[in-house]
Amino acid sequence: MLRRLAAHQPESFAFSPANQAWAETQITKYPPGRQASAIIPLLWRAQEQEGWLSRPAIESIADMLGMAYIRALEVATFYFMFQLEPVGSVAHVQICGTLSCMLCGSEDLIAVCKSKIAARPHMLSADGKFSWEEVECLGACANAPMAQIGKDYYEDLTAEGFEKLLEEMAAGRVPVPGPQNGRYAAEPLSGLTSLKDHAAGRAPHNASAQAAVDMADTLKRIDGTEVPLTAPWLGKDAAVAVAPAPAKAAAPVAPAPAVAAPPAAPTDAARPAALAAAREGGADDLKRIKGIGPKLAALCNTLGIWHFDQIAGWTAAEVAWMDDNLEGFKGRVTRDDWVAQAKLLAAGEDTEFSKRVDKGGVY
Ligand code: FES
Repeated sequence: MLRRLAAHQPESFAFSPANQAWAETQITKYPPGRQASAIIPLLWRAQEQEGWLSRPAIESIADMLGMAYIRALEVATFYFMFQLEPVGSVAHVQICGTLSCMLCGSEDLIAVCKSKIAARPHMLSADGKFSWEEVECLGACANAPMAQIGKDYYEDLTAEGFEKLLEEMAAGRVPVPGPQNGRYAAEPLSGLTSLKDHAAGRAPHNASAQAAVDMADTLKRIDGTEVPLTAPWLGKDAAVAVAPAPAKAAAPVAPAPAVAAPPAAPTDAARPAALAAAREGGADDLKRIKGIGPKLAALCNTLGIWHFDQIAGWTAAEVAWMDDNLEGFKGRVTRDDWVAQAKLLAAGEDTEFSKRVDKGGVY
């Protein structure tokens, strides 16, 4: 299936203050230079907040993580869990169409989607409240046919019951998720064959459905205020105060002050020796180093770096300074081991990557 960004995009994206603090805290889980590892949780949080992933959201998160936009777009377009089109303001319905559900009536549910929501998947209903899609097995085959609606599973569905669920949701109510045919969980349709004594004292709903009822958030968008923010990996088990968010989350982000003191920044004493301009004979093509594109090469030049032998001679402190001062590309020197590559190139040797560049195979 072709996955493209929506034709119509919002002007901008910003996390809510609480989600911004959450996102900044997630980034601190990863060592310097590896912030890009936080891409999936941050994209997911943006989707939980907005319902879908817009281009400004993807690019804003790429900026936060110092990633090229194309890298973040690759992740967002690869995983089907990310919605690239606006979804219904009330709910996006995901109907399982895999074998068990298909044999038990998922096609009837899809017919309801087509008649009550929209003729095609990923289209908004006329009132903008709902959208739908068919998905692969959601792992609730014993309760087929089923649908994921918002964050919960609605199971043992019939076409009529499913229509009523949509009506309830459209009216602002949140029906109890779980089996819709009176089953407690996934016990045999003919009734319990064991643990019968236990059944007498159980709660009215199974644990998943009860949790959804208690939280009343099956369809709710996540603004970050639902659960106190904690950061046990930073030794902060207690709730962390939420700092006010910037108007637009576009700049690379330092760890939130309320969460942890940022690591000491490399001092300017560690700045690598800079040249005012390239030496006679011209600058080296820094793009022959894997990880350096046109933007990074230009940035290096503005920092006085023009030649492979300059990079080859960097000390660990100088690498740290450069990693910290490559705005928008922090951590790249370490990530791609520029120094090792530059040593070979400065000695007149090639790397596998530089050979490809020289052949014109890298764009
Ligand atoms: S086949 Fe539908 S949940 Fe597995």
